Amino acid sequence: MIILRKLNDLNEIISQQKKHHHSIGFVPTMGALHEGHISLVEESAKENDFTIVSVFVNPTQFNNAADLEKYPRTEDVDIEILSESNADAVFFPAIEDIYPHGQKAEKFDFNDLENQMEGKFRPGHFDGVGTVVKRFFELIEPDRAYFGEKDFQQLRIIRQLVENENIPVEIISVPIKRENDGLAMSSRNMRLTKEMRNESPKIFRILTQAKSFFEPHSIEETRQFVKDEFSKTLLVLEYFEIADEKTLKPVTDKSKPDDIRAFVAAFAGEIRLIDNLKFK
Ligand code: PAJ
Repeated sequence: MIILRKLNDLNEIISQQKKHHHSIGFVPTMGALHEGHISLVEESAKENDFTIVSVFVNPTQFNNAADLEKYPRTEDVDIEILSESNADAVFFPAIEDIYPHGQKAEKFDFNDLENQMEGKFRPGHFDGVGTVVKRFFELIEPDRAYFGEKDFQQLRIIRQLVENENIPVEIISVPIKRENDGLAMSSRNMRLTKEMRNESPKIFRILTQAKSFFEPHSIEETRQFVKDEFSKTLLVLEYFEIADEKTLKPVTDKSKPDDIRAFVAAFAGEIRLIDNLKFK
C-alpha cells in the first residue's frame, strides 16, 4: 500500500491511474479505523481498479472544540489496518492541502436536508463535511466514492452535493457494521467508559423494539415508547426522529413516504453516539 503525504505525490499517483484508464474508488475517513471503515474499503476494492482512502480529521465539521481535540488519532494502527485490507493507497493530507485559503467552510444549500436532525444539534457541521468532501473530489476525481449508512444524513447530503455541483462521481452506500451486541461501530466507541460501553448496545436494542412497536402504533406512540425506554437506561436521548428517507423530514402520515427510517442521537456519558434503522 502506498502512503501519500504530499499533494504532488497524490497528483502523480492519480494521473498514473487515469493514464491507464483505471477506475478509482475513494473512501474518505477521519481515521481511528475499524471494521465499519474497512467494509467501505472492501466494497470499493471489489468495484474499482484502484482504491484510495483519506485520513483527515476535518476541523471545520466540529462545532465543539473539545470534541475535535479529543477525537482519536491512531495513525500507525490505521496504516497497519489498511495494509491488511485491499486498499491501494492512503492519503494523509496536510491542513493547507485541504484549506489553501484558510480553515473556513463553504456555505451550502442542501435543500433543507442540512437543517434536520444532526443539523439542528451540530450547527455548521454539514457545511464542514460538504467543504472537505468537495475538496477531496476535486483532488482525487474518483469514479466512485463510498459512504456508510451509519451517517445516513451525511450520505443523503453528499448525494445532494454531487447533484447540485454536477460532480461526476457515483456515490455508493454501505450498510452499518455492528459489534456482536448490536452497537454500531464508531471511532468514538473507544472513548466509552466500561459502564457506558455496556449500556450503549441498548441504542440498537431500543431501535429494533421500536420498529416492531411502530407497525401497529402511531408515530406519536412510538416516539413516547422510545423516550420511556431510554429513560430506563443510563443513556441520555438527544433526539429520536422517524423520518422520510428522501427529505429527512419527520413523517406525519406513516402510510405516505415509500421509505421510512428512524434516527437516534444519545449521550453515553460524555460520548455522543448516533444510530439509525430502516422502518419501511
Ligand atoms: P468517519 O466518521 O471516519 O467515517 C468515514 C466513513 O465510514 C463514513 O462514510 C461513515 O458513514 C462510515 N462508517 C463509520 N462507521 C461505520 C459503520 N459502523 N458501518 C458502516 N460505515 C461506517 O464520516 C466521516 O468520517 C467524515 O464526516 C468524512 C466523510 C470523512 C468527512 O470528513
